[in-house]
Amino acid sequence: MARLKLAVLISGRGSNLQSLIDACADPEFPAEIVSVISNVPDVQGLERAAMADISAAVIDHRNFDSREAFEATLNAALDDSGADLVCLAGFMRLLTAEFVNRWRDRLINIHPSLLPDYKGLHVHERVIAAGEAFSGCTVHYVRPDMDSGPIITQAKVPVEPGDTADTLAARVLAQEHIIYPEAVRQIAEA
Ligand code: GRF
Repeated sequence: MARLKLAVLISGRGSNLQSLIDACADPEFPAEIVSVISNVPDVQGLERAAMADISAAVIDHRNFDSREAFEATLNAALDDSGADLVCLAGFMRLLTAEFVNRWRDRLINIHPSLLPDYKGLHVHERVIAAGEAFSGCTVHYVRPDMDSGPIITQAKVPVEPGDTADTLAARVLAQEHIIYPEAVRQIAEA
């Protein structure tokens, strides 16, 4: 069976990228990474791609006059890669509705909360400040509104007494690394 071709978009550390690299290293896994694209130069995620011999590129948004011009270059790179599915993995640029609609149902994201709760940034701080008993993470199809779209899978974790944003983030991240490859598998096998 042909493997689903993934492009992974990153902006930084790339630990979710790593979880996908590790999953794809198993020949039985129904997907492979054909391209990694970062909008930020010199990030750790690019080193992870290099270590795994995956073709990687930097498309630095600061070199473009507009979001549309940036996305035109991104679209061309994604088309060239032959990607079937684009995975946002800590990609920190907002995407236009035009881009999102072009990739409708072929564009997924991971977010460190139990969506639809706690969209946006500084999730763990807000979860702790609100006194929530649970948090978690979500993989979802991307729609034009930020952190919205059909949910593919979620994992829930407890918020422990004394948690800081960092300790909660680490507990959630461990689950992110499990559910992102699971979501990709689910899509590939559908
Ligand atoms: C993760 O928490 C992800 O859910 C969020 O940004 C973080 C990226 O981490 N969207 P990494 O770059 O994958 O390590």
